[in-house]
Amino acid sequence: MSEPTVPQFRVIDLIRKKRDGGVFSRAEIEYLVDGCTKGSIPDYQMAAWLMAVVLRGMTGEETAALTNAMLHSGEVLDLSFLPAKKVDKHSTGGVGDKTSLVLAPLVAAGGLYVPMISGRGLGHTGGTLDKLESIPGFRVDLDAREFERVLKACGCSMIGQTEKIAPADRKLYVLRDVTGTVESPYLICASIMSKKLAEGTDALVLDVKTGSGAFMKKEEDAVFLAELMVETGERMGKKMAALITDMNQPLGRMVGNALEVQECIEVLHGEGPADLRDLCFELAGWMLYLGGAAKTVAEGKQLCERIIASGQAFERFRQMVELQGGDISAIDDPSRLPSAEHRVEVLSPQSGYVTAIATEQVGTACVILGGGRERKEDSVDPAVGIVVHKKIGDKVSAGESLCTIHCHSLADAQAARAKALLEESYEIAEAPPTYKLPLIHRVIYKGES
Ligand code: URA
Repeated sequence: MSEPTVPQFRVIDLIRKKRDGGVFSRAEIEYLVDGCTKGSIPDYQMAAWLMAVVLRGMTGEETAALTNAMLHSGEVLDLSFLPAKKVDKHSTGGVGDKTSLVLAPLVAAGGLYVPMISGRGLGHTGGTLDKLESIPGFRVDLDAREFERVLKACGCSMIGQTEKIAPADRKLYVLRDVTGTVESPYLICASIMSKKLAEGTDALVLDVKTGSGAFMKKEEDAVFLAELMVETGERMGKKMAALITDMNQPLGRMVGNALEVQECIEVLHGEGPADLRDLCFELAGWMLYLGGAAKTVAEGKQLCERIIASGQAFERFRQMVELQGGDISAIDDPSRLPSAEHRVEVLSPQSGYVTAIATEQVGTACVILGGGRERKEDSVDPAVGIVVHKKIGDKVSAGESLCTIHCHSLADAQAARAKALLEESYEIAEAPPTYKLPLIHRVIYKGES
């Protein structure tokens, strides 16, 4: 009979150590993550340790060790068979934040591979998977082999997280959600990076949002998280850059799943709103640069212009949709995407200029319409949403439409609640705002660009 194995550490000692501000070794962190994944450490002890991390923080080395342990708690894709570099982008989430649908085919047409594992809407922010599923038939639940096949065929594929990817994060995230331990930059960094690094990419561009529609309302919090994620990725041998981008108003004009797909198709055809186009080119420029397909970010952005003009980016998107089971007739003719029957205008109460938009409320209005989830088990309505006509700095006359609600019934209570919220979201003053919000607040990158 074999001897029972003696645990390497006592969990209570580890909790006390972090409570008192101690610094963990890699072995201690691996022990905790392994015990959490296997269920040998009870939730109450993990929760106590998580709270100690929230209060005491972690060093860069501890954060990287936690990320690495969470990453290796599950499957790490090996995409080394692909003949070019693999790059991805991660956004911390916003309202009308739809760049992934443009970036994946655009960067793939630039000669790199984009294996994208995306998420669903979180809180007031939209999710890439919900947007993609508004394309009739589109499958986001491909297994690893199907994912590799689509990637090989068209250079990009977009799917949801599988059971096998970073299982430690699944467990920890659920615990954090109910123990007030989500709000730690160290835990957020390890959670996001463990999932992203499981894709087997060579480089990652982070779009860290700040402003009224972002999770990080203050720029310094966004910068702190961005620097932590860049440092963690670099410690793990990845090329990393982070852009701190503006989320003080919705990105583009469309908010809502099918509406956002429609707007991405416009950008892929060389049209669409300037802020969305500019941010897509900026992020794609960085992806192409970090992946070695362009010598500088500026060259990457020029390459994007040419790829869009040639129609290749749209063609890649079309191919990906077809390979993932989607109805390409809805891509060729976006009027075939799901659409709501009714329109409700949100009118300006006075003449003047838009000086601010409470962007989180715009996102919440879309959730109320059914475009996002109020509870985990809710299904998402692909057709509803908001079309924004007036943005910060725009002149508006009394009675002019600020935005249009797309809903299923004029009498429905959700439409009325969404309308009231949108009316409150706009700040209108006699004089225009004295400053213009930058689209990119800051870039965090250690090398030359
Ligand atoms: N998104 C994640 O995936 N994890 C977090 O901890 C926060 C946001």
